[in-house]
Amino acid sequence: MSFPKDFLWGSATSSYQVEGAVTEGGRTPSIWDTFSRQKGAVLHGATGDIACDQYHRYEEDIQLMKTLGFQAYRFSISWSRILPDGVGKVNKEGVDYYKRLSGELHAQGMKVTATLYHWDLPQVLQDRGGWPNRETAYAFGEYAKTCFEHLGEYVDQWITLNEPWCSSYLGYLYGEHAPGLKDQDLAFKALHHLNLAHGLALKEYRHSGLLAPIGITLNPMMSRPATLSQEDQKAAALHKMMNTDLFLLPLFNHPYPAELHDELGISLPVQKGDMELIGQRCDFLGINYYNEGAVSYDESRPFHYKEVPVWHPVTNMKWPIVPNGLLRILRYFDTVSGSLPLYITENGCASVDIVEDGRIHDLDRCYYIRDHLKVCKQAIDEGINLKGYYVWSLLDNFEWAFGYEKRFGIIYVDYPTQKRIPKDSAYMMRDIIAGYDDF
Ligand code: FCB
Repeated sequence: MSFPKDFLWGSATSSYQVEGAVTEGGRTPSIWDTFSRQKGAVLHGATGDIACDQYHRYEEDIQLMKTLGFQAYRFSISWSRILPDGVGKVNKEGVDYYKRLSGELHAQGMKVTATLYHWDLPQVLQDRGGWPNRETAYAFGEYAKTCFEHLGEYVDQWITLNEPWCSSYLGYLYGEHAPGLKDQDLAFKALHHLNLAHGLALKEYRHSGLLAPIGITLNPMMSRPATLSQEDQKAAALHKMMNTDLFLLPLFNHPYPAELHDELGISLPVQKGDMELIGQRCDFLGINYYNEGAVSYDESRPFHYKEVPVWHPVTNMKWPIVPNGLLRILRYFDTVSGSLPLYITENGCASVDIVEDGRIHDLDRCYYIRDHLKVCKQAIDEGINLKGYYVWSLLDNFEWAFGYEKRFGIIYVDYPTQKRIPKDSAYMMRDIIAGYDDF
């Protein structure tokens, strides 16, 4: 299973999930600081206050990446470290942290992939309405510009947003993520404003003169129709429209799919010029992939589909393991994007990790990663322009509403001591990166 020589091997995390130090360095609260303090919002009342303490331990983490042979680290920038008021005054201490982190990565021979937004909206902006408020998109444009100005020479690859699907649906429709609202009207406003925010950031970037590639990371979901009946196929098409196309198609100058309005009666707050901004060409697409489900038609449901059980084995998140789902997505993205470079910006799984004599034998995670990498290799052999793979995650970390209960790391974190222990999957990644394909 040999990968092209220039295939990029990375690992990924995000600011709120690993940094900790939430009151240090001039950082102000984000919506996750607020949400995690709400009773019942996060399992066992966990917060990101300390998380993996990467804010203080990044050098050790970078050493670990280096010993495993990783070539790139995908982290996210905390908006409220850079602009504590959401807009306006730049916080030098915040900028300096990301300079130190990036500088150390470069010093150790690794590339820097920075995500501008991985869900931690400054709370001050939520107080003004958050993503349903169009102003938040403009604030994001300003924040992005600030990052380009101050960190431009440190970043090798930019990602505007991570999974706007989660920010809009989990945050404003299902209430499972910050800010924890359940309001369809707000959710679709948020959705369009997130897409717009991406477009505004891209506009700033093209004006900045920076040349490193910039893209966006989506979490496409393409559920299979439960049966071959026309109705179930329609359900699958609606599912794809809602969960993939609303985010993907406008990036390539398509209007929002008409079914949104015609079939479901939902309108988006599009203003003149928005679609042109969103449709500016980006340099690559990031794909986060974990699972695939199946749906059948059900008109009584808000979006006319319902998820039905599948037979596949599941991870510790109860997410079905369907490597071929990734192939279906890669083919679809390749077609829609006209063979734009693609990166897997997240893939991995939660498993029950047990420390035995100082080792973690996470064979289930090894198999999960291996089977998805086989699909990546197949896609490359088919001619799909897949350029790299970032495993989620470098470390066990704050898994949002699941707190510290779900472990996604290839490196185990013993939270009371903050000791890091590479799991067997870390050694497997090391071998794969080194070009050994005997697994
Ligand atoms: C993705 C998120 C990431 C992590 C994984 C398990 O949706 O981008 O932060 O939580 O899921």
